[in-house]
Formats: sequence, C-alpha cells, structure tokens
Amino acid sequence: MTTPDITLNSGTTIPQLGLGVWQATDEETEHAVRFALDEAGYRHIDTAAAYGNEEGVGRGIAAASVPREDIFLTTKLWNADQGYDRALAAFDDSLARLGTDYVDLYLIHWPLQDNDRLLRTWDALEKIAESGRAKAVGVCNFEPHHLQLLVDRGGMLPAVDQVELHPHLPQHEIRSFAGDHGIAVESWSPLGGTSNAGWGPNSKPNTLLVDPIITRIADRHSKSPAQVLIRWHLQNGLIVIPKSVHDLRIAQNIDVFDFELDDLDLSEIATLDDGERVGMHPDEMNMGAPD
Ligand code: A2P
Repeated sequence: MTTPDITLNSGTTIPQLGLGVWQATDEETEHAVRFALDEAGYRHIDTAAAYGNEEGVGRGIAAASVPREDIFLTTKLWNADQGYDRALAAFDDSLARLGTDYVDLYLIHWPLQDNDRLLRTWDALEKIAESGRAKAVGVCNFEPHHLQLLVDRGGMLPAVDQVELHPHLPQHEIRSFAGDHGIAVESWSPLGGTSNAGWGPNSKPNTLLVDPIITRIADRHSKSPAQVLIRWHLQNGLIVIPKSVHDLRIAQNIDVFDFELDDLDLSEIATLDDGERVGMHPDEMNMGAPD
C-alpha cells in the first residue's frame, strides 16, 4: 500500500510518511536512504544542513533506482546562516552537498530570538521558492507567535511547520493556528526521540517506545509500539518522519497501512499528554545564532 499524499499550500504534494536521518552519520544515511527508497518504498527523505549528512543523502539518492522527480526531499537552513545573503548562500551549499539542483521543501530550522533577522531570512526563502529551486518553503519549531509574524508580514506563508510532536506533546495550539492558516504540521521526534539520550536541557531517553499504554495497544493490533505511534500521527493528519538507520525498522515503520487505531486506542493515547519535551523549547533555543 502506498503512502498517502498531503497537498501543501504551495500546490505541491508531500508523502505523509518519510524517513528522518537526524543523528545518522553520512555512511549510515547513505545506506538508509538507498534502502528506504529501493527496498522499503519510501518516497520522502528529511535531512538538514545541521545533521552533517546531506552528502550521505545525496549519495543514497544517487545509488537508488528511484528517479529524483519521484522523491520528496527536504533540507533545512542552519541557525548560523540566518539573514538574507547568508540564507541564499547556505541554500546553494546544501544543493551542492545533496547533489541536486532543487529541493522539494526548504525549512528554517529554528526561529531564534531575533525577529528582524528572521523576517530577512524568510525574504530569502520566498525568493528561493520563486526561483523554483525549492518547490515549497517552510519553517520548523515556530510557535504561534512566530507564525503570526509571517502572517502580519503578508506574502508567502510557510507550507509546513515542523515541530517536536508526539503523544506527550501533541501541540494542540500550534496545530490549531497552523490549520487556520493552511500550514501543514510535521512531527519531529515522532517516536519520542532517541533511545539512548536526547539533547539539550530536556535530554532524556525515549520512554514512548516502552510505554505500557503504547505497548498494550501494539499487542492488541499485533503491531510494534513504533507502528502504533506512526499510525497516531497519520490518523491525526500530521506528516511524520520517523528516524532509523536499521533496515528492519525502516521497513517496519512504513508497514502501517494495514491497520487503524480505534477510538479506544486514541483515547488511551490522549492520556499521555503531559507536555514533556525531548528537545528544547523554541523560545529558549539560540544555538549557533549569528552575532
Ligand atoms: P535507530 O536509528 O537505531 O533505529 P525519532 O522519534 O526521533 O524518530 O527517533 C526514533 C528513535 O527510535 C531512533 O533512536 C531510532 O533508532 C529508534 N527507532 C526507529 N524506529 C524504531 C522501531 N521501529 N523500533 C524501535 N526503535 C526504533
């Protein structure tokens, strides 16, 4: 069964499920991307300049037999490259590392704490979108107050807002604001983050994949906890990019179109909402910001 598409406000479509590659080395990424495309049926890859593996993504895509035009490719502008000229140059550098002449989606990675610079950065992304070298542009980690800045600016709105989102942090406010403005929401750390350690002040190991509620629901459906979590994102209309560098898990994570969570499952998962993050709050994140 193929992954459903979501239509973005740019008019382009994005496969609702993709492969994330945060914290994967270039070598792991090259293997994972080729396997995901050729063997597991993925058509959507999500990377970032800051992950340090854009070259691995490019090599994986080149090694796969799937044509470039059938692949939805996302990358992100790192914080140090915010600002109009820096963003344009950083975009060129990302394309060179990826070995492609366009991306399907280019995202600002974090809003940081300087709204003037953020607006100049968005000007650059709008120009990139107009050039056709990014089929769509968007943002990550934007709270409603950041999205409001772009609404007030007028002009192009982000096609997506990619935020930390999982049953502990369902992000109702962001989803409501984004929905009102035609902005699709993408979930990062959709499985609850890495299994050993997270990052930043909220760093902690993944608890969702071993959560008793999730594992009980998984048993009811003869599916894995990861598959239950991915279904939860899909059934909530979210774009979901689970990360794995292991073939069996990559294949398992897209094998989610032969079952559905029912109302009882969804109501049990809703009880996990406690606002616990595995990453940093966007209003506290200024890592790598230019002076
Ligand atoms: P690995 O790459 O070693 O498979 P996220 O929530 O950020 O997508 O993180 C997913 C984490 O869970 C990663 O550490 C990944 O590690 C692991 N993972 C991914 N898919 C599965 C799965 N199907 N079962 C168990 N762990 C998984």
